[in-house]
Amino acid sequence: MRRDLTGKRAILTGASGGIGRAIAAGLVKAGARVALAGRNADALNQLATDLRATGGNALVVPTDVTKPEDRQQLVDRAVEAFGGLDLLVNNAGIGSHGHFATSTPEIMRQVMEVNFFAPIELTRAAMPDLMNGYQPAVVNLTSMCGRKGMPAWPEYSASKFALVGMSEAWRGEFARFGVDVITLVPGLTNSGFGNHLLRTDGRVEIRFHEGMKPDELAAGVVAAIERNRREVVFGGEARRLLRFNKFFPRLTNWLIARKVKQAYAKA
Ligand SMILES: NC(=O)c1ccc[n+]([C@@H]2O[C@H](COP(=O)([O-])OP(=O)(O)OC[C@H]3O[C@@H](n4cnc5c(N)ncnc54)[C@H](OP(=O)(O)O)[C@@H]3O)[C@@H](O)[C@H]2O)c1
Repeated sequence: MRRDLTGKRAILTGASGGIGRAIAAGLVKAGARVALAGRNADALNQLATDLRATGGNALVVPTDVTKPEDRQQLVDRAVEAFGGLDLLVNNAGIGSHGHFATSTPEIMRQVMEVNFFAPIELTRAAMPDLMNGYQPAVVNLTSMCGRKGMPAWPEYSASKFALVGMSEAWRGEFARFGVDVITLVPGLTNSGFGNHLLRTDGRVEIRFHEGMKPDELAAGVVAAIERNRREVVFGGEARRLLRFNKFFPRLTNWLIARKVKQAYAKA
């Protein structure tokens, strides 16, 4: 099936910056009407102004995705404005770059709240409307860390693995409602992600500036939605690492462990 985004009614979380902002532009360019969600209302309003200037249809709904009342309001306002719902793009996320031995239960819970419980519960709130949508889909932005747990990203990896697992289970469950589930697995992307980390003392170096451009990733995201792909890995490095891990898992783990040991020895 090819999904025509013209006139589609979408909710996009994490629209205020980084990858989400680029996805919003891509969806609107493809003809979708988009409810933009995030906590930063000024950034959302500026984005909506920019999108409307190109003839796009965008609605601003300031939302903290960890709050149940905000999630329900987001769904209600989108449905009221657009007359229904066809797409839910769960993109909002946070990370923490630090090692488990020195981390805290609070960081674990905060990462899980934003990256796992929020998209799960937003999807629960949106399902009654999605089930009545046209070519409806839930789109989950996970991560390469959701297919291979990475050192210095323990909480993040766990949260993204959980989202990947839920997406796979949903795919089987939601088929009877005609709702597709699309799992997106990006590698390193040069967004604002590195500036919003809960911790930044991981000893494994991470070079966001060498990552994909958000616009480049967003073009792939829109194409994946239009082509109704089941799962897509984005970024050459992510694809290479996941393939290498698939065929040589023991060697991959040994190389990763050696890198961490060397990082600690150097420090
Ligand atoms: N950058 C990468 O290398 C990379 C790689 C793989 C996957 N990803 C995933 O891609 C997604 C987008 O990340 P990004 O790189 O664009 O990061 P970003 O630039 O930090 O943007 C994160 C977005 O999430 C929103 N957000 C965070 N907490 C929120 C909350 N409690 N309620 C509502 N919105 C919240 C932020 O909006 P407000 O601050 O306005 O709330 C912001 O719009 C995330 O799921 C991330 O895990 C990123």
